[in-house]
Amino acid sequence: MLQKTKVNGVARPGRFSDDPARSWTLPASWYRASEIFDQEKDAIFFRSWWYAGPLSEVGEPGRYLTTTIIDQDVFVIRSADGTLRAFYNVCRHRAHRLLEGTGRCGRIVCPYHGWSYETNGAFLTGRGVCGIDGFDPAASGLIPVRVETMLGLVFVNLDDKARPLEETAQGMLADLNAHCANLDELTHVKRHQVVSNANWKVLVDNDLESYHVNSAHPALNELLDYRSFKVWEYDYATCHSMAGGDEDNSAYAIEEDAAVKTAIYTWLWPNTAFFVSPGRSNLAVFHMVPTGPESSVQIWDFFFKSAELSESEQAALDYTIDILIPEDSTLYENVQRGLRSRGYSEGRFVVNHDKPEWSEHHVHMFQKLVRDALVPGSDS
Ligand code: FES
Ligand SMILES: [Fe+2]
Repeated sequence: MLQKTKVNGVARPGRFSDDPARSWTLPASWYRASEIFDQEKDAIFFRSWWYAGPLSEVGEPGRYLTTTIIDQDVFVIRSADGTLRAFYNVCRHRAHRLLEGTGRCGRIVCPYHGWSYETNGAFLTGRGVCGIDGFDPAASGLIPVRVETMLGLVFVNLDDKARPLEETAQGMLADLNAHCANLDELTHVKRHQVVSNANWKVLVDNDLESYHVNSAHPALNELLDYRSFKVWEYDYATCHSMAGGDEDNSAYAIEEDAAVKTAIYTWLWPNTAFFVSPGRSNLAVFHMVPTGPESSVQIWDFFFKSAELSESEQAALDYTIDILIPEDSTLYENVQRGLRSRGYSEGRFVVNHDKPEWSEHHVHMFQKLVRDALVPGSDS
């Protein structure tokens, strides 16, 4: 029977339990209901670090990039004094969006009535504003948003009180750096986007287990040696590592002088994953962007040693875009369809610490963070 999503306005986590072996998954309704999606917006996404894009996009003064946290438009800009800043992407006059996409500007000019702002967010000009009773230019600047960087990537956070990014990510960050040197010096080579008809949590759940690799990713199963699989976690991050497998695997040929011999796949709460794969230095950022209760956009940013890819790097990129991502994308939409079935309301977690390649305890960890965010104090 389908469980009601809420009782007296409070989300119900069904038979979810703190013990993964005893726990049931979050109810299917949590992957469909607009009430849950609205609660996640405030309780998760407006308080967490959100991947905004590569730092190289905002390298020089005036360069900017834009991002949208569910329904909150934000832009990040390198101001004239060289400081990296972020603001809500909305004009203080009558709310038009200020900047689109990426680019470079000397000042920020609103397309609607032409009010302008300095790159540090200060109000600059507006025709006729001197006629506004009590208009205070000093109080009419753009509203700032927190911005921090790591690994050559820009993150923003709408919560002024949130823990700093590096503190939130510290263990995972150190592990990534230990597997691949100079990650923050890599070159952004490609962005790839895929629309998925699935709730964002379906994407994260899938990302946090390798139980499905054997049946769903035959080439990945050859590329990596899953017998060497190790998993560990921090408060808000997980790490999976495994050695490279067959040299003549069917995913791509690994160069003999590969700097990265052991792959590391990590995830940072709530919706960003980082992959370092066997080969020359490389990083893939996978941002699982919620766009509605049953829709998401996958944003993939690929970084390599240089813009000129070796044959092996090109093959790795082609494999990821043409094979691996479509394999997972099919799983997401199939699962979302199942979550609508009258024949399914919740499932179980396979928990196996001796065989971590089969274990779904990180999926449970993620769902517990979601449960705790939406229903604080509900430990069971
Ligand atoms: S809304 Fe921006 S100038 Fe009017
Ligand atoms: Fe997968």
